[in-house]
Amino acid sequence: MTTQARADSSRRVVFRRFGGPEVLELEHRPVPVPASDEVLVRVAAAGVNPVDWKLFSGQPMHDPYERSLPSGNGYDFAGTIVSTGADVERWRPGERVFGGLRFHAQADHLVIDPALLVRVPDGLSLVVAGALNVVGRTAFASVQSQRITAGDTVLVSGAAGGVGTLTAQLCIHRGARVIGTASPGNHDLLRSFGIEPVAYGPGLPDALRAAAPNGFTAVLDTVGHGTVAIALALGVSPHRINTVADYEARQRHPVAGVGGAAAGSAELAVVARMLADGDLGLPIDSVHPLERVREAYARSIAGHATGKIVIVTEEQPS
Ligand SMILES: NC(=O)c1ccc[n+]([C@@H]2O[C@H](COP(=O)([O-])OP(=O)(O)OC[C@H]3O[C@@H](n4cnc5c(N)ncnc54)[C@H](OP(=O)(O)O)[C@@H]3O)[C@@H](O)[C@H]2O)c1
Repeated sequence: MTTQARADSSRRVVFRRFGGPEVLELEHRPVPVPASDEVLVRVAAAGVNPVDWKLFSGQPMHDPYERSLPSGNGYDFAGTIVSTGADVERWRPGERVFGGLRFHAQADHLVIDPALLVRVPDGLSLVVAGALNVVGRTAFASVQSQRITAGDTVLVSGAAGGVGTLTAQLCIHRGARVIGTASPGNHDLLRSFGIEPVAYGPGLPDALRAAAPNGFTAVLDTVGHGTVAIALALGVSPHRINTVADYEARQRHPVAGVGGAAAGSAELAVVARMLADGDLGLPIDSVHPLERVREAYARSIAGHATGKIVIVTEEQPS
């Protein structure tokens, strides 16, 4: 893989065939030029999401994820505005921004419709902002779908993952009691957020009964792995279950499947503000330079990231 950034060009991650992380390559191209209604962003950080590797592996996907080759890669980004088109009034060079641009995010530069941009609040790093688009919108929408309140006892599966860690904390912020599944190595992290940890595995149903003898009033599934079936077996109403990861369960049961598409920039700005104010935390599992993008995805595919995996285009993004 060509590795180094060059002053006269811009790198981006591309794939020309479907497969594992080995299909990801770096391509050099001229720095893109924004149209009169677009903005040029220097990307500093770009989050890794499971949907990315589902896409470049060639898994059948529904619109808007259908992909033709060759393709750019990644969805989440954060960076700094370099220049704006003549018709753009609201944004200025030098402003820190984040958001999502499907199939274009993992690059030194991207051009984007400014309506898709969200301002990075003071106090939030570009690394965390660059990891936020998918998980922030998904967690917000999932919690909102079940109208979680202080009276709830909520099970959040995958509470150490990117979506799960924010989902669980948003429930706690609303006053709910939250029990989260994770491997034992992540239990201290969960406790630090006020989440009561339970180990997943063969004894999970009994462990959940012991943790919540009066039962769960709502379940927010972020990993699949039979969470919906266990919740139903524990007597949780299907009308108080939301899954963002188990499409099969949604076909078989009247459970909700509200995900990131149900939240937009306004909700993302709320989550960013909460992170900047210290009301939420988003653990960063690992940070990988753009030229080692394959390593980042190998880690995501292994399925045990603690919080977010992030790709950076420069050594120390602010
Ligand atoms: N529908 C949507 O809008 C939407 C949006 C975003 C994501 N998703 C989907 O949601 C899923 C999670 O996404 P993500 O970004 O949160 O992934 P992620 O950050 O890679 O999640 C990894 C986490 O999963 C946990 N995990 C693995 N096996 C588990 C099990 N059997 N039980 C409980 N936890 C387990 C791991 O915990 P340990 O390390 O403790 O094992 C790890 O912390 C993916 O399938 C993704 O495609 C859907």
